[in-house]
Amino acid sequence: MGVLDQARQLTFPPGFLWGAATAAYQIEGAATEGGRGPSIWDTFSHTPGRVVGGHTGDVACDHYHRVASDVRLMAGLGLQSYRFSVAWPRVQPTGSGAANQQGLDFYRRLVDELLAHDIEPWLTLYHWDLPQPLEDAGGWPARDTAARFADYTRLVVDALGDRVRYWTTLNEPWCSAFLGYGSGVHAPGRTAGADAVRAGHHLMLGHGLAVQALRAARPQAEVGVTVNLYPVTPATDSPADVDAARRIDGLMNRFFLDPLLRGSYPVDLREDLRQVSDFGHVRDGDLATISTDLDMVGVNYYSRHVVAAPVEARPRPETPAPSSWPGSEDVRFVTRGVPVTDMQWEIDAPGLVETLRRVHDDYTDLPLYVTENGSAFVDTVTDGEVDDVDRLAYFDAHLRAAHAAISSGVPLKGYFAWSLMDNFEWAWGYTKRFGMIHVDYDSQHRIPKSSARWYAEVIRRNGLAA
Ligand code: NOJ
Repeated sequence: MGVLDQARQLTFPPGFLWGAATAAYQIEGAATEGGRGPSIWDTFSHTPGRVVGGHTGDVACDHYHRVASDVRLMAGLGLQSYRFSVAWPRVQPTGSGAANQQGLDFYRRLVDELLAHDIEPWLTLYHWDLPQPLEDAGGWPARDTAARFADYTRLVVDALGDRVRYWTTLNEPWCSAFLGYGSGVHAPGRTAGADAVRAGHHLMLGHGLAVQALRAARPQAEVGVTVNLYPVTPATDSPADVDAARRIDGLMNRFFLDPLLRGSYPVDLREDLRQVSDFGHVRDGDLATISTDLDMVGVNYYSRHVVAAPVEARPRPETPAPSSWPGSEDVRFVTRGVPVTDMQWEIDAPGLVETLRRVHDDYTDLPLYVTENGSAFVDTVTDGEVDDVDRLAYFDAHLRAAHAAISSGVPLKGYFAWSLMDNFEWAWGYTKRFGMIHVDYDSQHRIPKSSARWYAEVIRRNGLAA
């Protein structure tokens, strides 16, 4: 494929899948309707001091009641695929036992609306909303949660397997484990290093069991997992900084990539975590289950980490972090003074090429998908319009990087913008806007921003103007 085709544009390969993504707790609302049970995010967001402004997902974007009109908005953008997550506590309110039919019906309605508009549903089974009763029984640090996840997966695939082709088991297990149980800035807000390490393992075990359940029920399903990856760069080439980068790369990237795609934990990572965990929770056969063959790998990419060590602890994770996660305590996350988003995350499009190349070169020939990429910026509504030039530029730069990765031989098959619409940004509540569609949370009025119109044109051309 040439860099520029005759139409003077960067064209993506035929069949490249263009989409946008959301997650259940971030958009659905209707937290107590339709038989839904409480999740760890309901408990966490209702605990004073956990989420900025005391915001909760009780109403969010009210998507639960607006499925039909939201899918019409997606169709208006020409989306070819929509990545959403199923809320486990809607389908299985206590995390075990029979399915809640009303919950399944909601997702069947959503999927049918998507299919009626020629939008490929892309279903994520776990985007952080663990049923509270399972947390009360030990949460992800407890091995049984992995088995519960496989049971829940069976309920979902039995109900939707005839109409959903693409399945993602977990979204960003690093966040669930290390922010949920390590730094405590995400639900359930626990701060025990050993639990974070156990949670990471049991999340991956649950993933492996879920892949097997999906395959047994629907051999033709396309099954993958989504990991959040970062290039980790040493601030200088001093041995101490280089070693800090190795460690953070181990904790954030290889902790998940190696078990999932190689069937082993990195030796240096286990050594780094020696004081925290003896990995005694890893049983014979677990790593074989965890590395069950996949059909694709999802990569969420937002930024790069530049690190130095060791001085005072000053981590820069995805959310406001009062404390660090195990193994990172003495590492400094350095800012380089390059432009940042409203999350204070550095904008680094070349890092996407690096990340995709690394997964392809070091781990797998499987098809890759960017399952999330995007940016928060402060938006203003002027005369009913939102001209989000910074967000648009972020997308543009990262799509050029995605194209460069493809040109260099990476089998990247699709791209999902984060996010379809503004939504509940976890510990930041509604204060950070990632959407291509603006949401007025008082009126629930939606306004496609400039970036949405631009993205619609990218999809229509299957490429970017040169
Ligand atoms: C990754 C998460 O999957 C998503 O839920 C979150 O909103 C975005 N990153 C932005 O932080």
